[in-house]
Amino acid sequence: MGEISKIPQHVSIIMDGNGRWARLRGLERLEGHKEGVGSVRASLELAVELKIKYLSLFAFSTENWSRPKDEVEGLWNLMFKAIERETEFLIENHVRVLILGNLEQLPQDLQAAVHGLVEATSGGTGTTLIIMMNYSGKWDIMQAANRFSKENPGVEMRPEDMDNYLVTASIPDPDLLIRTSGEERISNYMLWQTAYTEFYFTKVFWPDFRKSEFRLALEE
Ligand code: IPE
Ligand code: IPE
Ligand code: MG
Repeated sequence: MGEISKIPQHVSIIMDGNGRWARLRGLERLEGHKEGVGSVRASLELAVELKIKYLSLFAFSTENWSRPKDEVEGLWNLMFKAIERETEFLIENHVRVLILGNLEQLPQDLQAAVHGLVEATSGGTGTTLIIMMNYSGKWDIMQAANRFSKENPGVEMRPEDMDNYLVTASIPDPDLLIRTSGEERISNYMLWQTAYTEFYFTKVFWPDFRKSEFRLALEE
């Protein structure tokens, strides 16, 4: 095992390849998403161990609504169950959770569960886990610009205003962005916030991205 010379403050991950992981095994796509939840847990555990201050994960993009209804509903169901199952672990490990994105479009019961989780972990002083849900970079920039102009009529927006109106306002920009599954694109993720971010791509599918793979990315 190599050395991690410097622990980044904020690591972000585009979790990709669940469907291909499943297809390779002759399984339904949802089985890949299920297995991917284990990788979320593993990455978070390592982030906590290494005292990484912010770990953000791209869980659902505004473009992902175009997937089959069954798959989208399966994803909500997985998230709902993960929240129920993991809340205690998160509190015990002093993890603070933030869920960012256009949450109004999520099913009502999931919205309630999300708010409950954020509230229940709000006192966490360790790692902040940020789940980007129904998020896209263009949407974020648009909502920031619209909100700013509504609150400051006639005022020209400055870069620092954009920083403060994005949904990531309270969070430093990512130092490192990881994308799994061999795809090497940003897919409308944090467009503004990654202006100076380092990128790391791996061919490993998300369900296989566990602690040792995460370590490799940090070493690199
Ligand atoms: C990432 O895996 C999970 C989400 C986008 C929700 P994919 O579902 O995109 O898996 P592939 O890219 O089809 O293999
Ligand atoms: C990006 O993965 C979105 C998430 C990881 C949530 P996709 O698999 O949806 O991206 P594209 O469509 O291949 O670019
Ligand atoms: Mg994909």
